[in-house]
Amino acid sequence: MDFDLNDEQRMIRDLARDFAAGEIAPIAAEIDETGAFPYATVKKMGEIGLLGLTASQAYGGVGADMVCYVLAMQEISRVCASHGVIMSVQNSLVNYGLEKFGTDDQRQRILTPLASGQAIGAYSLTEPQSGSDAANMRTTAVRDGADYVINGRKSWVTSGPVADYVVVFVTTNPKGDHRDTMAIVVESDRPGFARGKTEPKLGIRASATCELVFEDCRVPAANRLGDEGTGFKFAMTILDKGRIGIASQALGIAQAAYEASVAYAKERHAFGKAIAEHQAIQFMLADMATRIHAARLLTLRAALKADRGERFTAEASMAKLYASETANFVTDKAVQVHGGMGYSKELPVERYYRDARITEIYEGTSEIQRLVIARHVLGSAA
Ligand code: CAA
Repeated sequence: MDFDLNDEQRMIRDLARDFAAGEIAPIAAEIDETGAFPYATVKKMGEIGLLGLTASQAYGGVGADMVCYVLAMQEISRVCASHGVIMSVQNSLVNYGLEKFGTDDQRQRILTPLASGQAIGAYSLTEPQSGSDAANMRTTAVRDGADYVINGRKSWVTSGPVADYVVVFVTTNPKGDHRDTMAIVVESDRPGFARGKTEPKLGIRASATCELVFEDCRVPAANRLGDEGTGFKFAMTILDKGRIGIASQALGIAQAAYEASVAYAKERHAFGKAIAEHQAIQFMLADMATRIHAARLLTLRAALKADRGERFTAEASMAKLYASETANFVTDKAVQVHGGMGYSKELPVERYYRDARITEIYEGTSEIQRLVIARHVLGSAA
């Protein structure tokens, strides 16, 4: 596979890098501390196209390929993983689903404000009793004339507290299975829609996460994506792209921790020489560099397959699995290289360590990625 970047890919990577350095870096530590959602920088990300990077230009997006998306996601996450997940959810979980499965009316009405950065979107699959077992959803939609009436509770919704539009996965038969599920877009100003408790989190603290509560929430059937019965498959198809986004986020976090470690190892002295001259440190840096390189190749491979229009389910899971485990490995070693300073809030290394942890959990745990990969290896995946 050819990973030479073309002009557009280099330009978008550099745009994201400059934006992250100029606009996000000055606030990254502060918003981690306060947990405040970064409205101003998210708005600016929308203005320069980062919230609609892969959506078509016809619907307000940039129309860039998945390789551009991977590169930009890494640059943003390298500086702030909270901005990274906000960008990832909007692009790959919300915009992509709307463009792939929506009608032209839905794309004009809902995708366009999202892709052009004028609105924020969320994707709501998880429920209190259904995390990894995503098909086991209990939020119901009952058809009533031209509407659906939605009741239930969703949890762990990234960008839920700030979203204007939420892609919600519901069942039309709570005793049924995944063949009874559907996806529907709910505008956040609809009566019966409420935001529940906000999650206090270990990492990615400036991204907003909450429960969503639906009480007789009436939504027009014109907001349904596809047909009844297709919701779970849509959710899985969308997550394939989402997992490339989270792999890229993990890579960005790992890269930041690695770069900080190399710099610190050259500057910190122990036993009469820079710690970079001690083999114990060199071996850690070598392992960090090698794993990051391998994770990057896996992530670009998944993105290239997606750009070619080929099925990339297994490749996305491999990229997400390896990149998220790499982020946790690298940030752990980065704390070790930094010693006491790695444990201090004076440096960003402890933030990288906390931010990395979620990448092995959301959009499918490492165990779920292994399950998906194993099904493909064994030929039992549909
Ligand atoms: N693409 C298209 N279709 C797919 C698919 C995919 N990737 N994966 C499964 N399907 C289809 C299957 O072909 C099957 O179709 P048929 O009924 O026609 O045969 C159907 O979906 C059911 O598939 P499975 O039998 O494989 O379903 P399962 O119940 O065994 O579950 C699973 C599979 C992989 C475990 C899935 O439940 C899963 O991915 N779980 C993890 C959920 C997850 O990632 N949640 C993340 C929440 S969102 C989030 O985290 C966002 C955020 O905050 C940032």
